[in-house]
Amino acid sequence: MSDEFISDTPKVRQFIREVQAIIASTSSIPERLAAIRPIFRQVMADAQWLPDEFRRTYEHGGMGKGIANWLLYRDTEGTLSLSALVLPHGAATPVHDHLAWGLVGLYVGEQDEEIYETAVPVGAGDQHSELKLVENKHLTVGSFYELIPPTGDIHRVITTSREPSISLHLLGNDVGCVLRHRFEPETGAVAPFRSGYTNVNCEQ
Ligand SMILES: [Fe+2]
Repeated sequence: MSDEFISDTPKVRQFIREVQAIIASTSSIPERLAAIRPIFRQVMADAQWLPDEFRRTYEHGGMGKGIANWLLYRDTEGTLSLSALVLPHGAATPVHDHLAWGLVGLYVGEQDEEIYETAVPVGAGDQHSELKLVENKHLTVGSFYELIPPTGDIHRVITTSREPSISLHLLGNDVGCVLRHRFEPETGAVAPFRSGYTNVNCEQ
């Protein structure tokens, strides 16, 4: 098995090569994210490289109606993935966690982001967790947010632009395939959640 480059372009290959070199040479997640940020910014600044096929919305998306989660790259160990989340106008993801470090940048459109915290970490079989809304952000093209679990790991995003928003997710796991959580802040309900990818299956 070798790494999967679903979007196999020189740009993606070079970016992943540089990210892997940074991962190998940094010892903490904040240090890693700080080193990745400048090269991620360069990728984000080029509006052309993402093929049209990964800019489409998807009627029956695992993140919700109309929401596509296109996998662009993943490694074989489940320790690195790059994906494009496409949300139509007005669409909102469920409140969810990621369970890995990550850097997410807004590539197209605008989003509102709601960030939540739990009083106690969510356990594997938990069905209830009190969530507190701790921050609201408005994201425009070029905005980044960092995931350093548990900080910033639970959120929901909503597209506020007329056009669909596209956010590029670089994560330290195979985020579409891992079992994570979705939350209902109004009731405190928590449920296991696997978002899947729009274009690639997860192994059973
Ligand atoms: Fe997310």
